[in-house]
Amino acid sequence: MRTPFIAGNWKMNKTADEAVAFVNQVKDALNAIEGVDIAFCPPFMAIPAMAAALKGTKVGVGAQNMYFEASGAYTGEVAANMLTPFCKYVIIGHSERRQYFGETDETVNKKINAALASGLIPIVCCGESLQQNQAGVTHDFVSGQIRNGFAGISAEEAAGIVVAYEPIWAIGTGLTATAEQAQAIIGGTVRATLTELYGDETAQQIRIQYGGSVKPSNVAEIMAQPDIDGALVGGASLKPDFVELVKNSV
Ligand code: PGA
Repeated sequence: MRTPFIAGNWKMNKTADEAVAFVNQVKDALNAIEGVDIAFCPPFMAIPAMAAALKGTKVGVGAQNMYFEASGAYTGEVAANMLTPFCKYVIIGHSERRQYFGETDETVNKKINAALASGLIPIVCCGESLQQNQAGVTHDFVSGQIRNGFAGISAEEAAGIVVAYEPIWAIGTGLTATAEQAQAIIGGTVRATLTELYGDETAQQIRIQYGGSVKPSNVAEIMAQPDIDGALVGGASLKPDFVELVKNSV
């Protein structure tokens, strides 16, 4: 069976010092929670210090982005092999990166390939905007994001990738998709598309998270859905009651 996976996406929050102080506060409690994989994805500057602070615990570290080239004249970018000494995971194609930083399905695809080649586990984000949701094109749009993002990725590679479905209208807004709405897209679109691409056996191995205003109070009913294997948590992962959220997920 798929092990549940809760990841905190800190976005552009917490300095390295603040990050270490925070994880020192919560790491023992998180480490004691069984049956769930846990990770924090802090800003780049906090990654090495976080990795050191979390050493010997079950809590992993992820990056929020990376570039697909291995090295070279790409001012401001960070390559996969710069992350691997510290990170197990990397978030790819978050909607904020698509919206503000020109990320496309094509760059997402290149980044997935580069991450896999370096041994990082990609957390690949997809999700529709409010307008797309209201226009009834969610299925086709999200299915297209998956098809384009996974182009050329083998079934063996795909099995180890994590997908995060995050409806853009639910991110940071306090609006959560109902657990049933999230299940409908995660099962009926995300896993269904992965099944078309890779067959049932592989698709059943792929972990799919829900993201968008997940909190300690709503995580249990989200996790109770058959196709939802975890959560990508923004705002609620910055506070100590993230421990409660993770406890409530199992
Ligand atoms: P949120 O963010 O939990 O603050 O809505 C989720 C995300 O963007 O990953």
